[in-house]
Amino acid sequence: MLQNKNVLLGVSGGIAAYKACALTSKLTQQGANVKVIMTESATKFVSPLTFQALSRNPVYTDTFDEKNPKKIAHIDIADWADIAIIAPATANIIGKMANGIADEMLSTTLLATQASVYIAPAMNVHMYAHQAVIANMKKLESWGYHFIEPGAGYLACGYVGKGRLEEPETIIETIKNHQAGSALFSGKKVLVSAGPTRENIDPVRFFSNRSSGKMGFAIAEAAANMGAEVTLVAGPSQEEISNNNIKRIDITTAAEMYEAMLKYYNGSDIVVKAAAVADYRPKETYAGKMKKQAGDWNIQMERTNDILQTLGDRKENQFLVGFAAETSNPLDYGKKKLKKKNLDAIVINNVAAEGAGFSGDTNVVTYVNKQDETKNLELASKQDIANKIMQFISNDMKGETM
Ligand code: CTP
Repeated sequence: MLQNKNVLLGVSGGIAAYKACALTSKLTQQGANVKVIMTESATKFVSPLTFQALSRNPVYTDTFDEKNPKKIAHIDIADWADIAIIAPATANIIGKMANGIADEMLSTTLLATQASVYIAPAMNVHMYAHQAVIANMKKLESWGYHFIEPGAGYLACGYVGKGRLEEPETIIETIKNHQAGSALFSGKKVLVSAGPTRENIDPVRFFSNRSSGKMGFAIAEAAANMGAEVTLVAGPSQEEISNNNIKRIDITTAAEMYEAMLKYYNGSDIVVKAAAVADYRPKETYAGKMKKQAGDWNIQMERTNDILQTLGDRKENQFLVGFAAETSNPLDYGKKKLKKKNLDAIVINNVAAEGAGFSGDTNVVTYVNKQDETKNLELASKQDIANKIMQFISNDMKGETM
């Protein structure tokens, strides 16, 4: 997997810099071409000569020490790299990356690169838990940077806790697994629906539901990160997408979602219907704002189309996944929906459970496929749940058991 890959290894100034030597050596043993950039502080811990000998390439420490007059080194290396690894990543380099600061060779190159970037932090336990560091890591994660969490144990500063650079073997394994995952759906077209729909009563009022769109957006991001070409049909939502492989189509009503889903259905390989579609809409939509009157106001509602049912009825080769939002007997109701709507799998969501449901950042779900194999996903972030769901879909499509 790393054979002939161009790997930029950024070493920043922490005591764990010595472990980056072993990492360089292991990367070259796996056939990677490694170029090392060190910050000035890193050179206080390990000599650039060590990395030069291990990588068999010149080591870069100074943006202005241009070795080849025909090239600008930081842009050249930024373009050359397939993968960038920052190990160890100090709080300082993480802070600079999160704020677009480019004041030495490593931060400047990282700002210019389009490569997948893996960050392996190492620092004191209290620094790692500091709000500023947490906020910077969250920001970087939302931009698509990947973190390799530090391990817990005895730290060089004397503390015992989380902050120890992950072992070089584990860093390499994590990157290899991630790279393998990022090709899981390459060449596949994935259609996802997310969010609520709004059914208008008049120009100022509508019926809707509590869906935030977070789960569906996370599915779209997970599929795109695994190499799929994704179309996301989204109801009104505050969520934003960061992956360029996602084509977002904004709709408002169930009828608009129906049109959009049918338009893209035929060309899709996988369809995940995470949206919370209104089952009813007002029979009449008033052109002007309704003025209040004496007595009650009765609004007559009519059924919307069941989009998922239509997709199930017209299914050809698509792998069709529905969601079920339930407040009681989730497994029973969910399995019934799987059969009735002719699905390949269903994600059952007990919206009444602690940490589950519409608006939060976490979820608890059960994935059931049409062979009736069941997988419970415990409380986790919607991103983690989305990654697992896509993994299950991939396994099911290959006919592998869960
Ligand atoms: N769904 C849909 N169109 C609708 C209603 C629901 O496509 N008009 C889809 C949802 O996107 C979801 C699945 O059907 O993937 C199940 O939605 P849910 O609201 O749980 O169930 P319903 O089918 O509406 O059934 P019930 O109201 O009986 O729970």
